Amino acid sequence: MKTDQYFDLRSSRWSDQYVQDVRFRRRFERIAELLTRTLPTSPTSVLDAGCGSGVFSRFLSTKGWNVTAIDASVEMIESARGNSQGSERINYEVSAIESFKAEAGSFDAIVSFSLLEYVERDDDAIAKLAGLLSSDGVLVVSVPNRSGLIRKLEGLLFGIRVASRDRLFSGRGEYLKYQKNQYSPFELDLMMRAQGLKKMRGIYLNSGLAGPSWVFPILERRWWAAMYCAAYRRS
Ligand SMILES: C[S@@+](CC[C@H](N)C(=O)[O-])C[C@H]1O[C@@H](n2cnc3c(N)ncnc32)[C@H](O)[C@@H]1O
Repeated sequence: MKTDQYFDLRSSRWSDQYVQDVRFRRRFERIAELLTRTLPTSPTSVLDAGCGSGVFSRFLSTKGWNVTAIDASVEMIESARGNSQGSERINYEVSAIESFKAEAGSFDAIVSFSLLEYVERDDDAIAKLAGLLSSDGVLVVSVPNRSGLIRKLEGLLFGIRVASRDRLFSGRGEYLKYQKNQYSPFELDLMMRAQGLKKMRGIYLNSGLAGPSWVFPILERRWWAAMYCAAYRRS
């Protein structure tokens, strides 16, 4: 199965996770807070690359931004359109980031959450996003945090699953079959630097363990967290 087909199968339930799962709710709240702090306030154009079912596209549109939202999965875009009825500020398009066509420098902001890890040539994808950004634009991305203990444990369990031919931990970490990249925060910052983008602010997101709300701040550290999310602008 190809990556877009894998996400096709998950499209109908993708938005529900952000309602039903405390880790997704927390992820959304913290990313929304980062966007509010770092994106320029003037309502202009933003690209959501790998928008999935449009959860963040809708948030951005309610803030007054005009959103172009793309995803390689046909079903994700179908689901996003269905979820966004009445949001006139969002233009959804089925497109892989690799083949997306837009004028250089045409977006004042670009967001891309949990996309880069699924892309074959992530350096090319970052260069493309940087090229689409206006001269004072802001890019916000989230990626798996390779430095986090939770990713190492996840990788170990997945390795056991594969080695045991699915007899142990069956079904666990299915998405790892499609993931091509993970990043230490340092590595990602360096890749952005190579495209002339400087970090404004970075945060860590749990998403491994669920628990009461007081647990989350303890787990949202580099040594544990599953995800790193950072905002960059031209240096
Ligand atoms: C983990 S989901 C994240 C969705 C959304 N950004 C979110 O945070 O809820 C990754 C999304 O990236 C899309 N995707 C994977 N490879 C892609 C590519 N090369 N170009 C565009 N979208 C891609 C998938 O179809 C999927 O919807």
